[in-house]
Amino acid sequence: MRLTIVGTGYVGLVTGACFADLGNDVLCLDIDEEKVRKLQQGLIPIYEPGLSDIVSRNMREERLLFTTNKAEAYAFGSIIFICVNTPSKEDGDVNMAYLEAAITDIAKFMNGYKILSIKSTVPIGTADCVKQLLQQHQAKQYDFDVVSNPEFLREGQAVKDFMNPDRIVIGTESENAKRVMMSLYRSLERTNKPIMVTDIRSAEMIKYASNSMLSTRISFMNEIARLCEKVGADVKVVAKGMGLDNRIGPRFLQAGVGYGGSCFPKDIRGMIAMGKKHGLSMDVLRAVDKVNEEQKRSLLPKLLHYLPDLHGRRIAVWGLAFKPKTDDIREAPSLIIIEQLQQLGAEVVVFDPEAEPSARRVLQGVTYAKNPLGAVKDCDALMIITEWDEFRNLDLLQLKAMMKQPIIIDGRNIYELEEMRGLGFSYTGVGRGYCNERQECP
Ligand SMILES: NC(=O)c1ccc[n+]([C@@H]2O[C@H](COP(=O)([O-])OP(=O)(O)OC[C@H]3O[C@@H](n4cnc5c(N)ncnc54)[C@H](O)[C@@H]3O)[C@@H](O)[C@H]2O)c1
Repeated sequence: MRLTIVGTGYVGLVTGACFADLGNDVLCLDIDEEKVRKLQQGLIPIYEPGLSDIVSRNMREERLLFTTNKAEAYAFGSIIFICVNTPSKEDGDVNMAYLEAAITDIAKFMNGYKILSIKSTVPIGTADCVKQLLQQHQAKQYDFDVVSNPEFLREGQAVKDFMNPDRIVIGTESENAKRVMMSLYRSLERTNKPIMVTDIRSAEMIKYASNSMLSTRISFMNEIARLCEKVGADVKVVAKGMGLDNRIGPRFLQAGVGYGGSCFPKDIRGMIAMGKKHGLSMDVLRAVDKVNEEQKRSLLPKLLHYLPDLHGRRIAVWGLAFKPKTDDIREAPSLIIIEQLQQLGAEVVVFDPEAEPSARRVLQGVTYAKNPLGAVKDCDALMIITEWDEFRNLDLLQLKAMMKQPIIIDGRNIYELEEMRGLGFSYTGVGRGYCNERQECP
């Protein structure tokens, strides 16, 4: 099939590359000229495992092309995938300006029947608004169908997730759109991993409700972790015990420094804004957001317990990305923690295996180390913010020897408490209740 992808960010680039890899002819459009210029040279603007190989292979075989030419792009595909960003506005509502701009462009340049498949995460009812907008702005009256096709890929495993989805959701009222979308996706359908065809609004809601549930689990466990610290329980043990219950399951039960990224925070706030428009207070999600904001700020008091005055102290931070295997620092807890450290006069040395280029665009006054041990050299404490695998198996004695003071505040619980204490570290994690019992943390 001939496909047009609108927006070549995390979702659009992965979608375009993977569909090309499945044998489709794909033209990706972006308004960011610099991004498109790089992509045309085979340079991938984001870090996503496996993506670079797929992009280069399909560019070589001429199934994957990039353009800024809207007329060419919107004439090209019989299906147009909308993958533009839908960020939060100041008040938490969803900023639909990028999507609306794309739709008015499509109306202007479409040259025949098109299926508009919305992959961006959009408020419920958007597909209906898109229909109206398209009709209003069409230069010539062509038929079209609008489909809600939410994307569930996770950054860091985006290619794997796209190629092996847990489910594919297609929200449509049109028999023709259903037939075409089913035939496009059929190669990705597996036993027990269905293509689910629904009405449009339910499809739109499935995406928001899924992200809301995942964020809720995270904030729930972070609240349990706080109580564990007060009552002397260990949240890792608690999570394991809970996860063995089939009704609960083990995933998304890790306590930490809170969720970040370009999806969970904005989607929770988007849901709250949607509820407000309909007279609902969305109490659960408000609490989820509040707990998360507090959690991002919960590591600093643990550090201050050991080092009450941070002036002139050298603090190492491992991990800038909002999670491992991505270079995405949007709404990353690291940004808040670094700001807090700097406000209290600390000198901050950071290391992240992939996110340094993204961080350089927003962070000021930090020193970038080339590796984890380089970051901790002569530092007064280490804060672990992102659980990159390469932090897990370092030589802990060497780590201790490099530090001026062996203080570790571990926001991801990647080390074993007893082992770290045994090695002589002052070590505090999240929700590891022993520290309370020993009066070692606030
Ligand atoms: N990142 C994720 O993990 C993820 C997962 C599932 C769903 N989503 C949703 O997918 C959407 C895209 O997310 P993303 O992370 O890929 O965003 P992104 O910011 O990485 O990329 C969006 C791209 O769209 C381009 N763009 C904006 N307006 C355009 C227009 N009118 N025409 C052409 N290009 C345009 C931008 O220049 C940018 O390159 C969002 O709605 C997001 O919520 C994201």
